[in-house]
Order: sequence, then structure tokens, then C-alpha cells
Amino acid sequence: MKIAVGCDHIVTEIKNEVVKYLEKKGIEVIDCGTYDKERTHYPIYGKRVGEKVALKEVELGIVLCGTGVGITNAVNKIKGIRCVLTQDVSVVRYAREVLNANVLGFGGRVSGMGVIEDLIDAFLETEYAETEERNQMIEKIDHLIQHDPACGKENLFDDLLEKWERGEYHD
Ligand code: RB5
Repeated sequence: MKIAVGCDHIVTEIKNEVVKYLEKKGIEVIDCGTYDKERTHYPIYGKRVGEKVALKEVELGIVLCGTGVGITNAVNKIKGIRCVLTQDVSVVRYAREVLNANVLGFGGRVSGMGVIEDLIDAFLETEYAETEERNQMIEKIDHLIQHDPACGKENLFDDLLEKWERGEYHD
């Protein structure tokens, strides 16, 4: 199995722990960054992970930022992505089983590594229990989205990145 993982600079160490945890399980990980603590922005990494999942370059994705809120909102804007943000394994199971969630999200500043490992285990172990009704519901959800992952826009964040490099960006 191949999984894409992405995070922002707030939780890079936690993301590295997640990568190690997945690799120990024999999973091939595509680490979409970020790779250090330098200030960046979560939509970049939500986009990278979401596109890989939507284009079926990987089976599943995992995203994290401080709270999990920013990056999961970003990744959920990509057509074909159904990301679950939670700290609760029963919600992860539901999201996989009923909505065929294909990205797991959590807050690296909110959940400890023990909880994160449990969330990942539930995400990997639970299968979509397909029914016609569920397929139709998922199709309806997916139709709400406008952004086509195949449309590229690799340079979408260039203006922001240039601004940060010039030191003009302040939280
Ligand atoms: C930092 O940009 C912080 O806002 C982010 O990691 C996250 O907590 C947002 O939901």
C-alpha cells in the first residue's frame, strides 16, 4: 500500500513520527512535506496530498497541521477527497466504512502520538462497506466540488511563497 503524508511547519516532527510508524508497518510513504520548521502554509501540503489521492497515485492520504482544521479544509476542497478530521477512532471507522474516507486528518498539537497511532490503525484496518445507497451519497458529495485535481495549477501558491521569502508575510 502507498500513502501520501503532508503537514505544515508546526508539526513536522510529528509528521516524521507518522512516516516512521507507517514504514514500520511496511507501507510505502510519499512524504509530500513540509520537511523542516521554516514558516509555510498548510494549503500547499493539503493540495499535494489530495491530488495524489484523487489521481490514484496513492491509495490513501494523511494530513496534519496544528489543529488539523486548516489542512483538512484545504484537502477537502479537491474533487474526490473525503477527509475525516477527528481524535476519535469510532469516527474514523465510520468515515471509512460508510463514506469511504480516503484521507485522515488530525491536529499534531491536539492529539498525542498514542491517539494518532490508534487513529491510523483504525483508518488502515477499516474497509469501505459498499452499498448502492452509500455509493450514491458519495457521488452526490463529490459532485459538490468544483476543483478538478487534473487541472494542474502547480504555481497556485507562488505569489504567497515569494511574499514570505521577501519577509512580507506576518501571521
Ligand atoms: C499555523 O499556520 C496553524 O494555523 C496551523 O498549523 C493549524 O493549526 C491550522 O488549523
